Amino acid sequence: MYGLVNRAIQQMVTTHHGEAVWQRIKERADLQDLDFFSTYQAYPDDVTHRLVAAGSAELGLSGDQIMQAFGEYWITYTATEGYEQLLESTGESLPDFLNQLDNLHARAAVSFPALQPPSFRCVHSADASMQLEYRSKRQGLAPMVTGLLHGLGKRFETPLEVKQMASRDRGDATDLFQIRLSPPSDSAAGLPDDGMKHE
Ligand code: HEM
Repeated sequence: MYGLVNRAIQQMVTTHHGEAVWQRIKERADLQDLDFFSTYQAYPDDVTHRLVAAGSAELGLSGDQIMQAFGEYWITYTATEGYEQLLESTGESLPDFLNQLDNLHARAAVSFPALQPPSFRCVHSADASMQLEYRSKRQGLAPMVTGLLHGLGKRFETPLEVKQMASRDRGDATDLFQIRLSPPSDSAAGLPDDGMKHE
């Protein structure tokens, strides 16, 4: 994957755990000779997977936990690394935004010509829930999607719950997520719910 991804992992680790821990993770991943990741260079996916495995061993977290934390981090990281406008123009609400994810990556591909983007299909139900299907040439990144959705929930100040309903890692044909939006906290706050008009 593009260096932007590995740089984000580096920044997440150094911000939360410090430079020494990052150096140990790099060594465990057998990347000690690499001075830095170059944003626009495409690295083998294996480099990212090695960083996640090394982070997992060093921090005592599961690989899934690291991928999920990383997904959440990615939303604020890309916003501060020059992609705030791209994020802003992708949608004004979370449902809008989720409908436009493929469009977002198509526009990102202008900067990353060898991008192998994921693809998403969003189905909206009437009851404030959505189903999101995630497709990728890659395997094993679904926990990152859960984290991405939580990061987007924070960005849009839209509390949400995410449940993975189907998983390619577990042998299902697809990766499917159920997203349930919590009602806005100020909706009819304090009013008795008796169907009457109170003035
Ligand atoms: C402006 C913000 C974003 C930029 C610039 C961006 C760019 C990228 C880049 C460069 C990659 C690496 C893929 C490769 O090197 O072939 C990637 C992967 C990925 N992106 Fe985005 N992205 C952004 C936002 C998002 C958002 C909001 C989501 C939410 C679902 C998302 C989901 C993913 C996933 C799941 C992958 C892993 C690759 C895969 O599944 O095959 N991205 N993105």
